[in-house]
Amino acid sequence: MQFDYQDKHVFVAGGTSGINLGIALGFAAEGAKVSVLSRSQEKVDAALAALKEAGAPDAQGFSADVRKFDAIESAINASAESFGKIDVLVSGAAGNFPALAKDLSPNGFKSVVDIDLIGTFHVLKAGYPHLTRPGASVINISAPQAQNAMVVQAHVCAAKAGVDMLTRVLAMEWGPEGIRVNSIIPGPIDETEGMRRLAPTDELRSMVKRSVPLGRMGQVDDVANLALMMSAPQSSYLSGAVIPIDGGWSLAGDRLAMFQLLEAMMKGQVSS
Ligand code: NAP
Ligand code: COA
Repeated sequence: MQFDYQDKHVFVAGGTSGINLGIALGFAAEGAKVSVLSRSQEKVDAALAALKEAGAPDAQGFSADVRKFDAIESAINASAESFGKIDVLVSGAAGNFPALAKDLSPNGFKSVVDIDLIGTFHVLKAGYPHLTRPGASVINISAPQAQNAMVVQAHVCAAKAGVDMLTRVLAMEWGPEGIRVNSIIPGPIDETEGMRRLAPTDELRSMVKRSVPLGRMGQVDDVANLALMMSAPQSSYLSGAVIPIDGGWSLAGDRLAMFQLLEAMMKGQVSS
């Protein structure tokens, strides 16, 4: 599939590592003007260096926490000031760690809901005035936890389920303005922070691979390719969709993998 994102403005919240950086790099390679945002200035700088190498010489970076609306609004306003209207807005900042609900402090639960769910609302609300009308593509990075109940993931399940509901409601509210809103549900993606936290041992990693019908973990590029496809003009009738890219993992394997993680935690092989 050929893509043309020449001079399109793509803003990726949480775009300085892992899956979201892969998405930013994917758009950069197709000619987009890319903006990324995350908390750590060091990660922002490293992401900008990678983006420049990938074909986005003017890439912009912002250090801000998605839990702080004013900071997100300032960053998005500044990016639109230099790059113009936003054609693709990706909200992917998230936090995760395995913990049984009984061991989770109120602040632990709240931190994940604040980053994943409230943070997504902040990014979408601050981005809304700048979206290209008609034609913008908004993508929320969700997770299998949004649809499937998983042990040690009460906080993430609650937060990501909310993210997918935001996707659906905003697809209805913003659709009449020509703005499409969709979610991507990545499966287990290799060499990411998410998998380092949920499958931290060789044994758990190989169990995860066996629990995917396609028999392997995904690559960051698998998710980036889906984001490119979903934002392309050929997808102009796609909105309100929640699309897995997971080798079939969310059909059953994801829950099995989390039971194995819990067992490893109970045996003291893995700490929460
Ligand atoms: P990651 O590398 O840790 O990416 C998270 C990104 O969000 C980083 O750039 C991080 O940078 C930023 N971030 C975290 N908290 C933030 C905050 N409060 N404000 C602003 N930015 C913040 O993790 P990943 O594994 O690639 O996951 C990326 C996305 O994919 C997440 O939405 C995750 O839920 C989803 N996902 C991942 C997998 C997987 O297999 N890895 C599977 C399903 C879904 P800073 O630390 O600099 O803030
Ligand atoms: N088990 C149980 N509770 C935990 C925990 C764990 N492994 N890690 C953090 N918490 C709790 C903390 O104890 C704290 O609660 P408390 O104040 O009652 O003690 C609360 O979560 C917030 O932790 P803190 O470290 O202060 O938050 P933070 O805002 O600096 O970081 C996190 C947010 C905790 C989500 C952190 O893991 C993070 O920044 N993650 C981003 C990267 C990531 O998770 N990538 C994978 C994406 S899938």
